[in-house]
Amino acid sequence: MIALPDLPYAYNALEPTVSAETLRFHHDKHHQRYVDVANQTAKDLGIDDLSVEDMIVKARAEGLTALLRNAEQSWNHAFFWHSMAAPTGHEAPEAFAALKDEFLAKGAGHFASGWVWIVYADGALKVVDSHDNAGFACTDVIPLIVCDVWEHAYYLDYQNNRAGFLGAFWEKIANWDFARANLERAQKGERWTYAEA
Ligand SMILES: [Fe+2]
Repeated sequence: MIALPDLPYAYNALEPTVSAETLRFHHDKHHQRYVDVANQTAKDLGIDDLSVEDMIVKARAEGLTALLRNAEQSWNHAFFWHSMAAPTGHEAPEAFAALKDEFLAKGAGHFASGWVWIVYADGALKVVDSHDNAGFACTDVIPLIVCDVWEHAYYLDYQNNRAGFLGAFWEKIANWDFARANLERAQKGERWTYAEA
């Protein structure tokens, strides 16, 4: 069973960059729906005793598409909530700041629904975009921070201006403390898990 984690801040904590209305729809409707469908699908398969990570591993191995989509979306959204924080005025740490242009360009240029990530892979930081539900839970690549570029993440606040949303994400609310902590863990081969959400 997957539990829907609460947001790690109040619904209005990210305003005006992300409105409370967007967070209510995004967390309470979209994220809740992914969790509910993943749980129902797992129940129908008789595997609802698994953690979300174990669901993802099993779904990938056995080609269980509906379970994979909804379990990964559950995981990605929990990671995304922690990838944002109430504005602190912190600038991106140097290792991340060097990737700003690539992150914004990949996120804005990504075709259709997906995610843009900074990950730790082969001993280095990299910018990667992924389609639909695809992410990096339970892979060799360790995610450090992510931005959701599905339209539901920004349409109420930015309409079709995804680049505007991405720029504001980077400048105002990206949780660099989370990203830096994930990098320090990644360098030791450790990673964030859904249980921490
Ligand atoms: Fe989303």
